[in-house]
Amino acid sequence: MIRICLISGDGVGKEVITAAAEVLAALGLGLEFVETHAGFEHFKQSGDAIPDATLSTVEACGVALFGATSSPSIKVEGYRSPILAMRKAFDLYANLRPVQSLPGKFSRPNLDLLIVRENTEGLYAGHERLEGDTAIAERVITRKGSTRIAKMAFEQARRKSVVSGQSSVVTVVHKANVLKVTDGLFRESALQMAKDYPEITVKEMLVDAMAMRLVRDPENFDVIVTTNLFGDILSDEASALIGGLGVAPSANVGEKAAVFEPVHGSAPNIAGQGVANPIGAILSAAMLLDHIGQGAQADRVRQAVNATIEQSVLPRDLGGKTNTQQMTRTIIGNL
Ligand code: IPM
Ligand code: MN
Repeated sequence: MIRICLISGDGVGKEVITAAAEVLAALGLGLEFVETHAGFEHFKQSGDAIPDATLSTVEACGVALFGATSSPSIKVEGYRSPILAMRKAFDLYANLRPVQSLPGKFSRPNLDLLIVRENTEGLYAGHERLEGDTAIAERVITRKGSTRIAKMAFEQARRKSVVSGQSSVVTVVHKANVLKVTDGLFRESALQMAKDYPEITVKEMLVDAMAMRLVRDPENFDVIVTTNLFGDILSDEASALIGGLGVAPSANVGEKAAVFEPVHGSAPNIAGQGVANPIGAILSAAMLLDHIGQGAQADRVRQAVNATIEQSVLPRDLGGKTNTQQMTRTIIGNL
């Protein structure tokens, strides 16, 4: 019996996780869902944004589907971001963010890229402090962290080349011309790892140039591996190529657990209206299926999403009028 932990979180999280769970249930795999809580609303009620019980449930299930939570931009005493807490608790060191063309006018064609974002270090290490009127953030890059994310990228590239029948290219993205020590170490670790994968071409690019190339000729990229904040920014940018944040899925992967989440946030402006785009969450559920060895079912889900788009059944953010429930029903009908 495969158990999947569901964490809706805040805002549209509830709507899109319900949709994704319905799609998973419709596959008829006998999956069991375990609902649990986290988020800002939960924090306001209980004083804890992500209780230990939630972390234990994620650990017991091994896989979780996470919606979104609203994190305040100012410091709120006692509050911690649930997704950052889970990345830390389970050492979810790899964030996989695929950017694949969708069959709609809103998407650029011929894209099949994968952003592999380091997910635990860099400027997300949480080492920030105030010294008088100077605010300092430490950017922590380790050889271990850089090596394992590079290994993940090359493994993903290997998998991709098996599927596509073409040899893959990994682009190491950094800013080592300025951040000579931190990104110097990241770059060196990644290029060292490349030696174990002679069949894969390795390239490197400065992050500013990468940001430009993602707009100019994204179809020329395959697997991109980069540090935490650069990966955060580039993945939002890349989602715009295929229709925006509403369609972008992601996987936070570690040795002990994996958490799948749409790249979008809690979207408080449309929360509760039933109009959120469930595609990002549903494609995240497909990544979950890949992760648990149900690749054929994952493809079934992706094909049903594509078929739905081809029928021009589209949510508001993609220029249509279809609400979340109706989108979900159509996708299930297309399975
Ligand atoms: C993401 C989000 C998170 C991040 C926030 C919510 C902490 O933007 O998953 O990309 O910055 O990693
Ligand atoms: Mn982000």
